[in-house]
Amino acid sequence: MNILVTGGCGFIGSHLTDRLLERGHRVSVIDNLSTGNIANLNKKAVLYKIDIRDDENVGQVFDKEQPEVVFHLAAQINVRKSEEDPYLDTDININGSLKIIKNFLRVERRKKFVFASTGGAIYGDTDILPTPETVEPFPLCPYGISKLAVEKYLFYFSMFYNLKFVVLRYGNVYGPRQNAQAEAGVISIFSNNILDKKTPVIFGDGEQTRDFVYIDDIVNANITVMDNDVNGIFNVGTGKETSVNQVFDYLKKASGLNLNKRHAEPRKGEIKRSCISPAKLIRLTGWHPSVEIKEGISKTFTWFKGSY
Ligand SMILES: NC(=O)c1ccc[n+]([C@@H]2O[C@H](COP(=O)([O-])OP(=O)(O)OC[C@H]3O[C@@H](n4cnc5c(N)ncnc54)[C@H](O)[C@@H]3O)[C@@H](O)[C@H]2O)c1
Repeated sequence: MNILVTGGCGFIGSHLTDRLLERGHRVSVIDNLSTGNIANLNKKAVLYKIDIRDDENVGQVFDKEQPEVVFHLAAQINVRKSEEDPYLDTDININGSLKIIKNFLRVERRKKFVFASTGGAIYGDTDILPTPETVEPFPLCPYGISKLAVEKYLFYFSMFYNLKFVVLRYGNVYGPRQNAQAEAGVISIFSNNILDKKTPVIFGDGEQTRDFVYIDDIVNANITVMDNDVNGIFNVGTGKETSVNQVFDYLKKASGLNLNKRHAEPRKGEIKRSCISPAKLIRLTGWHPSVEIKEGISKTFTWFKGSY
């Protein structure tokens, strides 16, 4: 199949591109390299170095490639940046997404649109944990709001334009190639701190929890929803909570070093607990998270060490 991956030079998009190519698909990528790295991208993929908001060039890519499936991952992913500059976040994450969706609607042989949403930022501070998709989203940051807006647009286009779509609400994804500059990935940030011989800083008491999900499981989920006749919204997480203190302990073990950590003031507005239920995806497709956090952290640290 002809497949388009937006954000294919980024952390998740590049792993997904690798897997799609392995399976014999033709993969084209739209990426402006704002946070992505060309070194991440498989040489067999066709790169269009353009911005998803650039209507003219995006249109030309769709005319040429006629992708049957689109995985839309390009986004402004930094929560703090979305708070500082909600206009930019809206522009990339909503307007940019609409440009990709509208162009996809012009493709006659289109099969499915798969959107990378967030399970970590969309539910807000709910006490229903692990959170199923039936809990009403209540995002507490502009990033979460923009992701929710795109989900709503997808429903609209599915009702009136016959668009088939899947929304994947990811937990906290981690693994090789994650950008440590991007503030979202505590595991990549701490791994780099350790290799730079800097003391990892934990905001608050470190007992805040997240649903950390390994990159291979995220790629598998994307492939699974492409292959199966499913539509709608799915959480992709492990259903298990891990605290930031536990992450530090696992990394300490993986590094074999006697490390110290430092605590700083808690971050304003940070959600205390976040964990999403993947039961719906498991029930409808048989997908399953397969990498335990301890093993995933060890693999991730080994990769960062190797590329240091
Ligand atoms: N990493 C996570 O834990 C996580 C969790 C939930 C959701 N997501 C979502 O998954 C997707 C991928 O995230 P990631 O962690 O791989 O981030 P990433 O920053 O590594 O990848 C994003 C890619 O999109 C590109 N991009 C950004 N803005 C663009 C624009 N305007 N035009 C063209 N390309 C642009 C970047 O250059 C980058 O290559 C995002 O949509 C993100 O919101 C990620």
